[in-house]
Amino acid sequence: MGQILKGAYDMSLYEITFSPTGGTRKIAAIVSSVLGDTKTVITLLPKDSDYHVWQFKPSDICVIAVPSFGGRVPAVAAKRIQCMQGNGANAVLVCAYGNRAYDDTLLELSNTVKEAGFHPVAAIAAVARHSIMTQFAAGRPDIEDEKEIKTFAAAVKKKVISGNDMEEVIIPGNKPYREYHGVPFKPDADQNCNQCGLCAKECPVGAIDADNLTKTNTEQCISCMRCIDICPQKARKIDKRVLDAAILKMSTVLTARKKNEFFL
Ligand SMILES: Cc1cc2nc3c(=O)[nH]c(=O)nc-3n(C[C@H](O)[C@H](O)[C@H](O)COP(=O)(O)O)c2cc1C
Ligand code: SF4
Ligand code: SF4
Repeated sequence: MGQILKGAYDMSLYEITFSPTGGTRKIAAIVSSVLGDTKTVITLLPKDSDYHVWQFKPSDICVIAVPSFGGRVPAVAAKRIQCMQGNGANAVLVCAYGNRAYDDTLLELSNTVKEAGFHPVAAIAAVARHSIMTQFAAGRPDIEDEKEIKTFAAAVKKKVISGNDMEEVIIPGNKPYREYHGVPFKPDADQNCNQCGLCAKECPVGAIDADNLTKTNTEQCISCMRCIDICPQKARKIDKRVLDAAILKMSTVLTARKKNEFFL
């Protein structure tokens, strides 16, 4: 179970993340490190978990973190969050974005968690390494980001423990949400694959057939880059020409350092 925050009665801390390549989780962990000494970690990646088992209580505080995919919450993450029962638990929303923009991600996350019964009290949009074009925002979150995020998390902790001003946080974004129809990056394995099966096990949507590991079901694949990130043989790759074209197209937008944004 989660742990008690100092000075607060029966308040457990949960860190709930969908983080295919680890950037989102890094940001969530910085937030949690300030909110409490210990926490219960819930990852929304496993495709076979029953997320209905998670039921919270109004005194809990849940850091709920997702990456921005095309300015939206990854649909599979939203679906898994909606299986949970918030029961009025406080939610600190986190969106990690890869130095382009987060568009409607935080608003969609807020609406998603509210539908699941959570009460959003604070929100953060923070930059993490771009998981497809990894040269952009490389090294982020960095020391400067960590300092900013920790300062904000301390203010969130104060607000939650005092119980004052607990009205819902106002978050930017538009509805209807930005349209997102996926991206043309679907990894395949090359000759370095030694058939270990890890990618098939770890793919959050089951797009890799355990009996045919070099192929990817392109309809199911959400281009999250997890299989590339975790493959011990570095055998999984996306088409270099498609990637190079995207880098060329996006480099102006992705190069300048973007800032973190905080909402309390
Ligand atoms: C399919 C996909 C779409 C993405 N779309 C955006 C986007 O619209 N804006 C942006 O700034 N970053 C975008 N990114 C970058 C991720 O939001 C960013 O790298 C995030 O930190 C990834 O989280 P993770 O490391 O937890 O997987 C996208 C990444 C992927 C894989
Ligand atoms: S994780 Fe890499 S080496 Fe293992 S099966 Fe997948 S592609 Fe092959
Ligand atoms: S196959 Fe697609 S969805 Fe599965 S881990 Fe790889 S990139 Fe993500």
